[in-house]
Amino acid sequence: MIAVYPGSFDPITNGHLDIIERAASVFDEVIVTVSTNSEKRPMFTLEERKEMLAEVCAHLKNVKVDSFTGLLVQYAQKTGAGVIVKGLRAVSDFQYEFEMAMMNRKLAPNVETVFLMTGAENAYLSSSIVKEISALGGAVSEMVPESVAYRMRQRLKEGIRRDEP
Ligand code: PNS
Repeated sequence: MIAVYPGSFDPITNGHLDIIERAASVFDEVIVTVSTNSEKRPMFTLEERKEMLAEVCAHLKNVKVDSFTGLLVQYAQKTGAGVIVKGLRAVSDFQYEFEMAMMNRKLAPNVETVFLMTGAENAYLSSSIVKEISALGGAVSEMVPESVAYRMRQRLKEGIRRDEP
């Protein structure tokens, strides 16, 4: 069974990596796919986000990195995936994820959404919080993989990107 794990991944956090590792142990193949129609002002370009994902997933042989535009369920059907994987951190994620899962089922009844729970140590993590901490001078080395923390430091030295959708 092929699963897709979609997100903005701006940037990938330890919480995302946790879900990817769990998904890779459950499904034959996991396609981590970066949404191109998400944030207006991402910190990292699409290519940079894909590079970071590929770097930190290199040890997982059944994980591929890709990107998609448009509806997620159409992308899942095109790639032959039968499952959409989503990570749940806390109850607060549930309402929105439930709505999306129901809507995706309406659009594509043959694609199941499967929720995986993050490890408790990642329950408070999100890309936006990590970006804020980093922008305000806090250490993010325990929240994102080291290669990502390095790129965040570099990006902050250059100034946050503002020029790409
Ligand atoms: O990491 P994010 O930003 O929480 O990811 C959200 C994402 C990309 C998974 C979600 O916005 C999405 O599925 N976008 C694709 C567009 C789509 O299919 N919309 C209908 C969902 S009901």
